[in-house]
Order: sequence, then C-alpha cells, then structure tokens
Amino acid sequence: MDNNNEDYHRLLALKQFDESKAGVKGLVDAGLTSIPSFFVHPTETLSDLKPTHQTPPQSIPVIDLSGFDSDRRGAIVDQVSRSARDFGFFQIINHGISQEILDRTLAAVKAFHELPAEAKAKYYDRSGGGRTGFTYMSNVDLYQSKAASWRDTMTVRLGAVTEDRVPEICRDAVADWDRAVVWLGEVVSELVGEGLGLSAGRFRALSCLGGKTMVGHYYPYCPQPDLTVGLGSHADPGLLTLLLQDQMGGLQVKSSGVWLDVKPLPGAIVVNVGDLLQIMSNDEYKSVDHRVLANMNQEPRVSTAVFLNPSKRDELYGPLPELISKDKPARYRQFTFSEFIQRFFTKELDEKSLKNFFKI
Ligand code: OGA
Ligand code: NI
Repeated sequence: MDNNNEDYHRLLALKQFDESKAGVKGLVDAGLTSIPSFFVHPTETLSDLKPTHQTPPQSIPVIDLSGFDSDRRGAIVDQVSRSARDFGFFQIINHGISQEILDRTLAAVKAFHELPAEAKAKYYDRSGGGRTGFTYMSNVDLYQSKAASWRDTMTVRLGAVTEDRVPEICRDAVADWDRAVVWLGEVVSELVGEGLGLSAGRFRALSCLGGKTMVGHYYPYCPQPDLTVGLGSHADPGLLTLLLQDQMGGLQVKSSGVWLDVKPLPGAIVVNVGDLLQIMSNDEYKSVDHRVLANMNQEPRVSTAVFLNPSKRDELYGPLPELISKDKPARYRQFTFSEFIQRFFTKELDEKSLKNFFKI
C-alpha cells in the first residue's frame, strides 16, 4: 500500500472508532485481544517505555502539609520551592481534604466511564467541555497525534457544576471536588508563590486560578501494553495541575533524562508545574514532561486532574516583572491566555511543550 492509501485507511479507522462513541473501553468490552494499528506507537516511543535497570537516584518528593498555616510553613515553602525547581512535580499529604472526598471523586469518574455505552454516547464530543461544560471522548489529540493512546476522558468545566449538564452519576461528587479544589488551589498557589518570593495572593490577583478544567481519565486493561501508551509524554499548559490517581500506578515523570514513577500513595495529591507557571516564574520553576504507561492489569486505572488556568482570556501573561532583572532578563514574550491555549489544541500532545512557542 502506498503512503496515501495507508493514510486514508488510517483516517477511516480513526473516524470509525471516534464515531462509535464507545471509546477504548468499548474496544475492551468487545473482547479485543490485539490493539488496532492506529494505537501502535513509533519504535522510538516504544523503546523508551522499557524500564531502565538501574534504580533511579532520586524520587518525586512527598511533602507533608500539616502545619502549613502555622509553625511549619517556612520549611514547607522551602520543600515546595525546591521540588518545583528540581522536579516540577511533588506529592502532598495531610493537605486537609478527607480521604472520603478523594475516594468519592475517583469512584464518580469510574462510575461515569462504566455507564452503558448508550448512556455515555450522548456526551461524546471533541469540544472538551467548552460549550456544554461536560463532555466525554477518547484521545483529545486523536486526529493530530501520530498514534492514539489507550484511555478515555471526561472533561468538566468546573464552577457551578450542580446544574444538570453534569451526568447525575457523578454530579454531587464532582461538585464536592470542585469546592475542595478551589480551597486547595489557593493553598498550593500561595506556597508556590512564596517559594518564588512573591507577595501574598499574587496569582489570585492575576486571576490565574479562576479557570478550572477537570479531566477524569479511564485507562482500561490493554492487551498489548508494550505497543502503546495510556497517555503520551506531554507537559501541562496551565499554571498548576492537581492530580488524584488510584493505586494502580503508571504515571511517570522525566527527570534528568530518566523516567521516574510517581508512586501511588494513599491519600496523596500530585501537584505539578504547568507551562504557564514556568513562563511566569521566568524559568525558576520547571514544567516537565510526564506520561502514563498503558495499563496491563485487568482492573482499570482511574485518575483525575484539575488544571488551574487564568479566567481572563484577554489579559496579558508572561514572566513576572519582580522575577526579571539585568542578570535574568525575560525569557518569554507576553501573550493572552486565549492565544496560549489555542496553540495547545492545535498541536499534538507530545509535541514540544507550549512554552517553546513563546520563547524570546
Ligand atoms: C494529565 C495527566 C496523568 C494521569 O491529565 O495531564 O498528566 O495520571 N494525567 O492520568
Ligand atoms: Ni499532564
């Protein structure tokens, strides 16, 4: 088959998969034992999936937040600052959100994805929750990426989720998670800001936390986990991401050229620096590449991330003036958040991260 013909057949297969509105879970439920070829990743990606034999010299820091508003604050800010600079990732424990809320949130995401295919199909839409506030689909970059990934995703635009646009099966849990995240986003962004020496409430004052998008990923069992991934390597575009994962494992972060596991830790919430925060910090903090391996276990893996983004689309963002000096000139130009995010949705997830487009 010549190239054109191959592309044509691939596009047909993608369309057929997309139009089934049943996602990857639909393929697994149909009893598939080998993955369709459009899920097979290029050899460079596949060879990079194999674990290295030496034990990594370091691991993603775990930060105990107890006492963050009293005696231990200084020490906690130091740990947050160091982790955001060195890894761009850390896990927090004793953050003040109850285990019950965490469990309910993940259970709600799982329950949505496990609704009958017919019940989910009416939410299937590629607009990412933009218009309706709630959508579900498989592979945000299905038509842009070189290969598809083994997961389905629901997307909720947070803020006022009590409306009936959110399916009943997850409505109350999502509303509770929204409230918890508003609070936690404030706490974490304060610590992150202090770690840069910024004045209190700096990110809030710039409306950096108001736009909250929640994704709920479902990674079903994959019969050929060495041929594909759950979520391809990417960096998150926004300010900060708050991520909740179950105990299955598979999330990895790149650090000094090595993939480190973000080990599931009961009760922990994973925090990571997004491209916008790296840019605003003028490269003090790092937004790093991360990925999820395809799930080789029979039991599905479930995770949910909230991306904290600016709520003002036409405001200008760029390196903060207080972090620019003669010795450290601005490394990025200014841009509006709408320009920024438009870029994100027209590129493949694992292409160069967004910050590269705004470098001076
Ligand atoms: C993301 C992400 C990781 C996970 O949604 O951007 O990195 O564990 N998710 O699902
Ligand atoms: Ni991510």
